[in-house]
Amino acid sequence: MRKALILAIAATALAFTAIGCKDKGNEAGGSGATEDTVKLGLFVSTTGEIATFGGDTKNGAELAVEEINKAGGIKGKTIDLRFYDTASKAEEAGNVATKLATQDKVLVAMGAVASGLSLAAAPVFEQNGVPMVSPSSTNPTVTQQGKNIFRICFLDDFQGGACAVFAYKELGKRKAAIIRNQDDAYSTGLADYFRLKFKALGGEIVADESYKKGTKEFASQITNVKAKEPDIIFLPCYYNDVALLSQQIRGQGIGDDVPMLGGDGWESANLIPNSKGALEGSYFGNHYSPEDPSEHVQAFVKGYKAKYNTAPSSLAALGYDVVYVVKKAIEDAGEFDRAKVRDALAALKDFKGVTGTFSIDENRDARKPISILKVQGDKFLPVKQIQPQDVK
Ligand code: PHE
Repeated sequence: MRKALILAIAATALAFTAIGCKDKGNEAGGSGATEDTVKLGLFVSTTGEIATFGGDTKNGAELAVEEINKAGGIKGKTIDLRFYDTASKAEEAGNVATKLATQDKVLVAMGAVASGLSLAAAPVFEQNGVPMVSPSSTNPTVTQQGKNIFRICFLDDFQGGACAVFAYKELGKRKAAIIRNQDDAYSTGLADYFRLKFKALGGEIVADESYKKGTKEFASQITNVKAKEPDIIFLPCYYNDVALLSQQIRGQGIGDDVPMLGGDGWESANLIPNSKGALEGSYFGNHYSPEDPSEHVQAFVKGYKAKYNTAPSSLAALGYDVVYVVKKAIEDAGEFDRAKVRDALAALKDFKGVTGTFSIDENRDARKPISILKVQGDKFLPVKQIQPQDVK
């Protein structure tokens, strides 16, 4: 009896040492897993200036987590989602990244939406060897932060180029004005790529105005733009700025024969109500279409509507896809090990998401088509899809 007890204690001690060793051996990688759970991080902004970006993304991601856990988890482990609000602040994104990497010790982190916030978080994850996958940061420099940093959306060289192609070829515009947020990486990057392509096509950039973060009054920029008589105005900004800019542009008498055009940053349920009709007939780029008749997309739309009582935005769709991408990478890796999951992410091919079928390329990026939507009444109407090869 006594002997058996000692043996049992010894066996338990051995088992603990074995687990301890395994974790230690994994330190550079880190497992992010317990016996029954796998810890995944999500960091997006659900409060502050760009709160709808994070709200939608979180909804999409949580739907995916719920589905996966209901179906048995990832390789038998339930997802333990560690969520942090980045409050629309780059500094907060950095803090939260440190928490996810060093306190929660997640296997993989998913986020951010805004490129400026991803740029603040990426170096922290890179240093700690934690794979980070952004669902929707489009600035090219995001994934250049290191070999652990990935994204599953298109990039702003393509997005800016596609907007220029659309303005020049589809709308027949020749004189573009730009108004950009000089303090935001997404805005300045997108502005530069639009500018480059529009000029290369033969168009003219008649004005390129900048404003500081937090600006609410754009009278001087708009006066300068108006004097140059553009036939289109490119606004590479987030939805709150676009709502104010558009009202002031129309308010200063630039008529609706001069449409406004922008990127994915316009997408928010707040855009149309807050712009008070000023964006009617204007256009912006977007990541997916809920009208896509494919079974996969329709099942997602149905599940999302049932849970949240509203149609999923492209942010919600990307939030949903990013969780399934991470699941697939863990399964492909075959182990709960950061370095192995990183390699599996890098090798991901022909992933069938609700935002399209895509692969991860040698720069840890995805290349996908963009849909141009038109603001009409209280709706966003898809008018044109542009493929990566159309912008070469
Ligand atoms: N692409 C934007 C950025 O990088 C974020 C965004 C994605 C906003 C999708 C809306 C929709 O900053």
